[in-house]
Amino acid sequence: MPQSTSVPSPDQVTDLVTPVVVRVAVTIGLLSTEPTPMSQLAIGLGIDDSVLRRLVRFLAARGILSVDANGVVSSTELGRRISDRTGSYAARLDWSGAAGRMDRSFVEDCLAAVLGRQRRPDPWAVFDDDPVLSGSFDTLMSARAAEWADELVEDPLWGRLGSIADLGGGRGHLLYRLLQAWPQLTGVLVERPGPARAAQEEAERLGLADRAQVVTADLRGPLPTGYDAYVLAHVLHDWNDEGAAVILRRAAEACGPGGRVVVVERELTDDQASSAAELNATAQDLRLFVLFGGGERTHDDLHALAASVGLSLEERRRLTSGRSLLVFARTPSPLRR
Ligand SMILES: C[S@@+](CC[C@H](N)C(=O)[O-])C[C@H]1O[C@@H](n2cnc3c(N)ncnc32)[C@H](O)[C@@H]1O
Repeated sequence: MPQSTSVPSPDQVTDLVTPVVVRVAVTIGLLSTEPTPMSQLAIGLGIDDSVLRRLVRFLAARGILSVDANGVVSSTELGRRISDRTGSYAARLDWSGAAGRMDRSFVEDCLAAVLGRQRRPDPWAVFDDDPVLSGSFDTLMSARAAEWADELVEDPLWGRLGSIADLGGGRGHLLYRLLQAWPQLTGVLVERPGPARAAQEEAERLGLADRAQVVTADLRGPLPTGYDAYVLAHVLHDWNDEGAAVILRRAAEACGPGGRVVVVERELTDDQASSAAELNATAQDLRLFVLFGGGERTHDDLHALAASVGLSLEERRRLTSGRSLLVFARTPSPLRR
């Protein structure tokens, strides 16, 4: 495995304070304000003046804020990038939403997960019990789609299909983009109750309700049948091999002999250990492992998983977003249970 050329200091890789304080600063809006004198800033943010001074001193020392001779506080380029509300970054750092909740769980549960101690049986139940948190997760997923969906939608694969089922499609950020880009397509989105309701509203808002059906169902049970392709985008990585195989098998059963199962996932590799993409992928892998008992997989892992339920790889494309598009067909042999 190649090593990174610049070696970080121990503090850079062990400090827990910086990531938490940056998230808190994003959440209270400290990084997204216009240049403002310290005293006005405290009033605007509704926090104590002495607390603000602490935060500002800390963030200025790390090049995230700057303070001029008159005490005017501004975000640096780094601060502006962190708090940019047009991308998914700020949603990922919002300490009060789903991302914050998952980050806190990660801190609490990482050691237990590494030691193989019992985890929550179904992490999605936490979202089902808390509609606000669940909605925040869906918003996060939709925001992150800006990183990968446009490129995926342009793939010629979709032009060869008449109908698709988007399994675990969230609020429809992929399915509805596909329907807008490919007029011959109709689709169904299968989701948990909360996102399914939001997806139905979104279909109506976008004027797509006549071409898009929304079904509330558990992906581990029977799925709507007869669609040309069953899409699993960033779904399998939320499950361990056993759970992922159940979902893949359900998709393979539903698509029938002529259908396809389309998987969109990051594929882990060892050949770019120091690239930003690989750093992201390995962090996401651990996050998924601790929070969901899942994780990112290598190409061989995905291949073997699909083969275990009678699916064989037909096409594979690496996308610039770091994801891979994998198209599987059912092999003639009966699906193994
Ligand atoms: C990581 S998100 C991926 C969302 C979307 N496909 C994307 O690529 O952005 C996984 C999705 O699977 C859904 N999901 C998880 N468990 C499910 C289940 N048992 N049945 C139906 N949907 C489920 C979640 O609600 C969530 O929207």
